[in-house]
Amino acid sequence: MIGIIQKVLVDLLVNTGGTELKQAVFARAGVPLDRNFRIDQNYPDDECLRLIHAAVAETGLPAQQIYTLYAKAFLQEAKSLFPRFFEISTSSEAFLMRQATIHAVMASGLQHSVDRKKVTDKFSATQLAPGSIQIEYRSANLLCGIFKALAHELAGFYNESLTVSCARCVKRGDGECCFVLQWPYAANKNTSADIIECG
Ligand code: HEM
Repeated sequence: MIGIIQKVLVDLLVNTGGTELKQAVFARAGVPLDRNFRIDQNYPDDECLRLIHAAVAETGLPAQQIYTLYAKAFLQEAKSLFPRFFEISTSSEAFLMRQATIHAVMASGLQHSVDRKKVTDKFSATQLAPGSIQIEYRSANLLCGIFKALAHELAGFYNESLTVSCARCVKRGDGECCFVLQWPYAANKNTSADIIECG
C-alpha cells in the first residue's frame, strides 16, 4: 500500500490523540515505533490493515466513524498535495470516473512493475448513464467502508450528494465488489434490481 494511506492515518492519530495514541496503535499493529511512512513508497498491505484495525481498537470508536474522520483528513491532504486532481474535475461524478486513473498516476512512481500493477488492478470505473457510474473493486483488503466514506466526503467537497450501493460483494460470496454510485439527477435512479447494502 502506497504510504500516503498510512501517513494520513498516523497524522490523524497524532492530531487527535497525540504521540501516545500513535505509539499505542503502532504497538498493537506490530509496526516499528520509529517508522515514518513516505507517500512515494510501497509498504505491505497487511501492515496497513493492521494499523487501521488497531486504530479502531485503540480509540474504541465505531469503525465507520473512524473511516469518516479518515476520509475528511485524506481528502484535505490530497487536495493540498495534488490540487490538480481536484481542479480538472468539475463534479464528484467526473472525479470518481477518474479515481482509478489517479491511483495509477500515484502508482507510476513505484519502482517495481508488480507493485504498480497491484495498485492499478484494484479499481476500474464505467459510466452507466449520466449521474450513474459503476466502480469495480478487486482487493483482498475489503476496504469498502473507507471507499464509501471517501465517496461521500468527496461529494461534500463539491457541495453534492450521492448514494453508494453494492451490486456485487465479496462478503456476500461474489468474486469481486462492485459499487454503483448515483447522483440525484440520475435518470435511472434505483432501477437496478439486485443492489444490496453491505459493510
Ligand atoms: C486525489 C485523490 C486520491 C488519491 C491521491 C488517492 C490515492 C490512493 C493511493 C496512493 C492508494 C494506495 C493504493 C495501493 O497502494 O494499493 C489509495 C487506496 C485507496 N483509495 Fe484512493 N486516492 C484518492 C481518492 C480516492 C477516492 C475518492 C476513493 C473512493 C471513493 C478512494 C478509495 C481508495 C480505497 C478504498 C483504497 C484502498 C484500496 C485497497 O487497498 O483495497 N481513493 N488511494
